[in-house]
Amino acid sequence: MPDHIYGSKVAQIHSAAFTQLARGAAVAVNKALDFVNKQNALIFECGVGDGTTAANLVRAGHRVIGVDQSPDMIDLARKRVPNAEFIEATCYKFDIPKVEVVLAVGEVLCYRNSGHNHPDCVYEFFAKVYKALEPGGIFIFDIVTLDRIPNPNPMQTFAQHGEVAMAVETTGNIENRSLRRDVTVFEGDGESYHKVNESHELYLFDKDEVISELKKLGFSCTTTLRYADFDLFPGLVAIWARKPEQGESQVQTNLVP
Ligand SMILES: C[S@@+](CC[C@H](N)C(=O)[O-])C[C@H]1O[C@@H](n2cnc3c(N)ncnc32)[C@H](O)[C@@H]1O
Repeated sequence: MPDHIYGSKVAQIHSAAFTQLARGAAVAVNKALDFVNKQNALIFECGVGDGTTAANLVRAGHRVIGVDQSPDMIDLARKRVPNAEFIEATCYKFDIPKVEVVLAVGEVLCYRNSGHNHPDCVYEFFAKVYKALEPGGIFIFDIVTLDRIPNPNPMQTFAQHGEVAMAVETTGNIENRSLRRDVTVFEGDGESYHKVNESHELYLFDKDEVISELKKLGFSCTTTLRYADFDLFPGLVAIWARKPEQGESQVQTNLVP
């Protein structure tokens, strides 16, 4: 299983061109916290990337502790949001502090690259999140499903930002429930090009199974196909899970204003 993901060049191009979802998620979470009248919330964010979501949450008066397995992403996040706390770590091995919100937006829980055993590692992580959340706390994340397999399969895409260009070949495999992205980043210095390759392996979840695992723990759940005005890519689903208040039964509450 490939291990090194979101090295400096891929982190840089993600930060420059692919943070629309992260911005939408921050707007949606801020709205949800306003809706339940929660100020100065303590938020644990997994897979913070370049800190785009964290920056917007901190600007709205919340506090963020974030982890990312990529040291390059952590560097970007620290520069973007000096008044949040960022730690280089894999979320499955991190002791989550007592918080009011847990976030993992942008397919974070789907990456298999660190050799984790999906989906079990994620279901074990759900239990840790449930334990760490304060009563009434919320857990917002998104997952990729089999519908994310491209048509045609494989599919090639290309993006450019200044002197940095990125080509991605995406291949899905229904039997293994996996999506592989072979990423090549080219950077020119006017005379020559440097090339960096990464392979990202994602697990394609079964949405109903995910919701059933969350409900077994006591969460109530809602799903959306957007974060605020950002429509999620086909095959991506956002899940909003809420831990009941003390003495409250597992009632369905609308978290998404
Ligand atoms: C697609 S990026 C999303 C980044 C950011 N949340 C956003 O939406 O822009 C996925 C991020 O998850 C991180 N990641 C993947 N698996 C992780 C894990 N097990 N623990 C911590 N971070 C992880 C990657 O390093 C990468 O920064």
